[in-house]
Amino acid sequence: MMKDLLRTQDLSRDDVEMLLTTSADFAVDPLKSRDALAHKSVAIYMTKPSTRTRLASETAVAHLGGTPIFIRGDELQLGRGETIADTARIISGYCSALIVRTFAQADVNELGEHSSIPVINALTDDDHPTQLLADWLTIRETFGKDVSGRKFVYLGDGNNMSHAWLTMGAIMGAHVVVATPSGSWAPDAHVVAEAEKIAARSGGRIEVLNDPEIAAKDASVLYTDVWMSMGDPESERAEKMRALAPFAVTENLMGLTAPDSIFMHCLPAHRGEEVEAAVIDGPKSVIWREALHRRTTIQAILYHASRGELRGN
Ligand code: CP
Ligand code: NVA
Repeated sequence: MMKDLLRTQDLSRDDVEMLLTTSADFAVDPLKSRDALAHKSVAIYMTKPSTRTRLASETAVAHLGGTPIFIRGDELQLGRGETIADTARIISGYCSALIVRTFAQADVNELGEHSSIPVINALTDDDHPTQLLADWLTIRETFGKDVSGRKFVYLGDGNNMSHAWLTMGAIMGAHVVVATPSGSWAPDAHVVAEAEKIAARSGGRIEVLNDPEIAAKDASVLYTDVWMSMGDPESERAEKMRALAPFAVTENLMGLTAPDSIFMHCLPAHRGEEVEAAVIDGPKSVIWREALHRRTTIQAILYHASRGELRGN
């Protein structure tokens, strides 16, 4: 049994299949398991801003019959020197799960280690596992279960989203591509190596490229994310914008993709930076469905994690 969802790479293919099946059920009937968390509370602790993940988490808990307790980063005694271990123990005494968004992956891992309840990573500097479940539910709704012969391409910054994209694609046995500038804004080499190991077992294929046009050619999905992530140093902005400019998802780039391709984005988006308005607001964009699936997938994670049904790999 896997208590927590700390990293995308911790999920087994069976876990993902179970979560996607339950998510699809919740998309049809949000109140299907309306008493699963009755008289229980879920803490949602965030030290970075959030629109979707917060709303998705709070509404998911409500749909399972529980009470969400939202805690901003500066509201815990953690900021005044209380340890992560003591905080984890206290939250475990009151709540049935902890959803956490913060900077360091190590802090989320430590919360997991010292909690007796499931701890769910709602974004760190390194990863964004809950987002990828919503993305793959959207991919499956669009293309069905068979991903053979399809190419799933992420373009832009080699950030937390690029890591999660590579890893989940590998778990799903897909051909995944990440195209970024080389050097400072490439994905972490350890994450790429881990994704390659997973892909070797699943029959997937990992490509890390520096050419956006080669990446986009015949792709089924073009995915992008903001170029400045939460916590990125402002001092790097100008250089980063210059380096990433060729990776913007334009109508021209979309024109290279497969005829049935879609555009995806985790949001928030900056039209005119990482994506042209004509693409994100155009007919191939699935962003609104994708965003709504944040709730259905977090609801499924809470449902199965609280029943001890995640197996891990
Ligand atoms: N996609 C996503 O995580 O959005 P928020 O930052 O608004 O939660
Ligand atoms: N890479 C972005 C994702 C936001 C959902 C960030 O970390 O800010």
